[in-house]
Amino acid sequence: MSEKITFTIDGVEVQADPGQTILQAAEAAGIYIPRLCAHKDLTPHGSCRVCTVFVNGRPQSACTQPVAPGITVENDTEKINAIRKDIIEMLFVEGNHFCMFCEKSGNCELQALGYRFGMLAPKYPYMFPKREVDASHPDIFIDRNRCILCGRCVRASRMLDGKGVFEFVGRGPEKRVQVNAEARLADTDASVTDKAVQVCPVGALLPKRVGYKVPVGQRLYDHEPIGSDIEKK
Ligand code: FES
Repeated sequence: MSEKITFTIDGVEVQADPGQTILQAAEAAGIYIPRLCAHKDLTPHGSCRVCTVFVNGRPQSACTQPVAPGITVENDTEKINAIRKDIIEMLFVEGNHFCMFCEKSGNCELQALGYRFGMLAPKYPYMFPKREVDASHPDIFIDRNRCILCGRCVRASRMLDGKGVFEFVGRGPEKRVQVNAEARLADTDASVTDKAVQVCPVGALLPKRVGYKVPVGQRLYDHEPIGSDIEKK
């Protein structure tokens, strides 16, 4: 059995297996590091930066950074949480997120992080971008207004569904998720049971004809902040 690696997170000693990322080791130790693009069944993407921690004083993404002996990780500090809150606010203003009309409300990781970090009115101006909705598929719709470009669907479709239905196209403000067909989701082999649909952290990919299956008030983050399940471990 390989030797454990010892390091600290916010002064707490943590034991990790070689090859684990800081995020994985923290989670196993019952320490929550906020994340959006990371998902336990997918390879790390390192794109959203919500998991930013300071390693020996330098900012790193905890979902991609491997553990190393003796490193000092800062996670739950005022300075780092302010950075994370800024990132969440920027994600809110660069899309069109109308939580009160979204079926994902209460189960949405972006919304839940907004609550966790006490986000009120974002300090950045809303961009109100013009984004497309693709409702062509009989069972799934894509609402790009809510997409945060985390890439979970892109990775899940390729790695878990073996399909490659989704891909990023465009750059900068024009970047968006596109489907592997001439134009529409209906022309792909996407299925509502695909993992790609299930791993979306927001309401950008949703099954059709499902509304209030879980009533408001009983949803994942209605009573406890996101991350509480890990902190209770
Ligand atoms: Fe680590 Fe997104 S969760 S960069």
